[in-house]
Amino acid sequence: MTATQGIIELKDIGQWYVDEKGQKTVVIEDFNLMVENVPKRGQFICLLGPSGCGKSTVLRYIAGLQKPSEGQVLLYGKPRKEEDHVGMVFQQYSSFPWLTVLDNVTLALEIKGVPRKQRREQAMAYIQACDLEKHAEKYAQYPILSGGQLQRVAIARSLVSNPNLLLMDEPFGALDVNTRLRMQEMLMTIWERLWHINTATTIVFVTHDIPEAVYLGTDIYIMQANPGKIVHHIAIDLPFDKTRQVKRDPRFVQYVYGIEDKMMALSQQKGVAVSG
Ligand SMILES: Nc1ncnc2c1ncn2[C@@H]1O[C@H](COP(=O)(O)OP(=O)(O)OP(=O)(O)O)[C@@H](O)[C@H]1O
Ligand SMILES: [Mg+2]
Repeated sequence: MTATQGIIELKDIGQWYVDEKGQKTVVIEDFNLMVENVPKRGQFICLLGPSGCGKSTVLRYIAGLQKPSEGQVLLYGKPRKEEDHVGMVFQQYSSFPWLTVLDNVTLALEIKGVPRKQRREQAMAYIQACDLEKHAEKYAQYPILSGGQLQRVAIARSLVSNPNLLLMDEPFGALDVNTRLRMQEMLMTIWERLWHINTATTIVFVTHDIPEAVYLGTDIYIMQANPGKIVHHIAIDLPFDKTRQVKRDPRFVQYVYGIEDKMMALSQQKGVAVSG
């Protein structure tokens, strides 16, 4: 892989649905996104946009859970193949509650075809990266594990299936404010730990929370709805190994209000509600 090659490319994507009366509704049109592979570090892409604009649909294309009505989905410069593994973390906890944390993570390795002998060691490396080693033998269910811990199990499972690419669809939306803030920091720490073991992970993260996007993201893309497409790209020029203190930085505050203004302008143009 070279620095300029796209890790994800979505080209000229269109998505429509035809209802039982034969009425066609176009939900995504002329959607183009190129996420470059940044060696050693990866990128943190945040996708913002009004409800229904197609954010989850875009993640589903990358995860291979849905094909667009038209256009191309490329991973590492090649058309996406059935066997490409890309993990996704959802708002709702998605681990298997009848399995332990360790078994949830080793199962992801088994699905990927990793030989039995190597599974435990590899699984423990990611469990450690997600600060879960004390909980490895516990069942992955609420309330044995808290909401934040369960989301970390989901992150570990997704990372073992493909450590270079992680998709997250409003992963902290169901958490209380404190847990959410701690999870943001945790995610930054996991991301940094991955660089230290020479794994560049590119994260595509959907959120309605503008400060969360500015805190986590290296790049923010804003989508409009009806039809869904990208209308703004904001490269975030803040230190990428930032701490929570950066939220007091005037540049941080400027990004947040700048994005809020853009999203308000979009909702006024379109006459639709914007969350976040
Ligand atoms: N099977 C379907 N038939 C018709 N319309 C659909 C179907 N699946 C999705 N859609 C529409 O596609 C659009 C995009 O949906 P998507 O879930 O990607 O939005 P989103 O941006 O993730 O929204 P939210 O922020 O609320 O999660 C929505 O308007 C939705 O109603
Ligand atoms: Mg969604």
